[in-house]
Amino acid sequence: MNILILGQGGREHALAYVISKSKLVNKLFVAKGNAGIKQYATIVDLNPFDNKAIMKFSIVYEIDLIIPGSELYLANGIADYFQGSNISVFGPTKKAAQIETSKAFAKEIMKKYDIPTAEYQIFDNYNDALNYLDANKIPIVIKYDGLAAGKGVVVATTKDEAVIALKMMLEDKKYGDGSVIIEEFLEGEEFSLMAFVHDEIVIPMPIAQDHKRLLDNDLGPNTGGMGVYCPVPIITQESVDYAVLNVMKKAAKGLVKENCNFTGFLYGGLIQTVDGPKVIEFNARFGDPEAEVILPKLKTDFLEIINNLLHSCVKKIEWDDDYYLGVVLASKGYPNKYSINHKIVGTNKTDSLIFHMGTKIYKNELLSSGGRVLLVTGKGKTIEEAKENAYINVSNIECDNLIYRTDIGAKSVKK
Ligand code: AMP
Ligand code: GLY
Repeated sequence: MNILILGQGGREHALAYVISKSKLVNKLFVAKGNAGIKQYATIVDLNPFDNKAIMKFSIVYEIDLIIPGSELYLANGIADYFQGSNISVFGPTKKAAQIETSKAFAKEIMKKYDIPTAEYQIFDNYNDALNYLDANKIPIVIKYDGLAAGKGVVVATTKDEAVIALKMMLEDKKYGDGSVIIEEFLEGEEFSLMAFVHDEIVIPMPIAQDHKRLLDNDLGPNTGGMGVYCPVPIITQESVDYAVLNVMKKAAKGLVKENCNFTGFLYGGLIQTVDGPKVIEFNARFGDPEAEVILPKLKTDFLEIINNLLHSCVKKIEWDDDYYLGVVLASKGYPNKYSINHKIVGTNKTDSLIFHMGTKIYKNELLSSGGRVLLVTGKGKTIEEAKENAYINVSNIECDNLIYRTDIGAKSVKK
């Protein structure tokens, strides 16, 4: 098979890594890729938002399957564009991707199909929202319903914070004309449950835990993720089984009933409350950095899984028993202003997997080119061993502009 991956981060690097090991792959292309992806795939200078150009390229290079990395390509209609062609896209249509792109749509699906999530109400009007706030407990969560560059969620611990957030979103319209969801605050461990989905077929993957805050002890601003590990020993198998049945399978079935059949990676962002796992959000693509620690565990051929699924054929998938832990090295200043083009050395000092999130090669040197730059993994028979190995590997990397958390996986490591 000839494959085209769309994207340029660590997730796409992990996808390129597993696809390059498949016995079914003939040619592997990535648009636009990064310096790390280069070792597994041919990098192509193709705009991942230009569906027409992607179609042209796919015909010329006889592409069989396109895997979009980011939700932005799904929202841009890549799956819709290729419908009816003989080129498959492993990603949902724009309509089905609303499970991620519209929080109101996701909430309605959850309500209608009895999927456990926080209580909520949707508001367009500032005064109505304030009245609801008066009638509910603090902390409370305010979410903008639309794309807000990851800044649309405010977990308000005081009423003043909630009022400021509502004013910013509904009165000052800082992110645009969208409505706002006010949601019950849920307490517990968060975890990410991903599944390969095609219509009602749901094949779950091992769970992972992301670390969204910039600094140790979950302090500092939210980021795209500063570290991750898989599997997650602090979440019981019973909870995972419950979530597969009551979240992932119900969501896939619900989307079929709504005529929004989902094909692709479905991501459940879950929280383990005292009443069981509840949904914080759905995503319509692989998690990043989750992909970087889940995909290396795969023993079954990745393309075989996708191929079988696209033909509605269900076969057992095998995963190894190891733990994988990934530490993100980010540019100083991230998630705010940061500089790029800093030289990085030492990535070849280990056999462990290092996934590139934002790098480029310039004059034979490896340079940083983004906010999150590298994800360095460690593997082990226990989470403790994986953590130790990951940090040994981190210590081999030299660069004058990279920062990282020192406590990835700490909650799962026995004291
Ligand atoms: P989201 O963009 O929906 O993933 O939210 C970002 C982060 O806000 C999540 O990872 C949670 O840590 C937090 N969050 C979102 N919704 C809730 C909720 N209902 N209760 C508690 N924390 C939440
Ligand atoms: N790791 C969070 C995300 O991919 O959305």
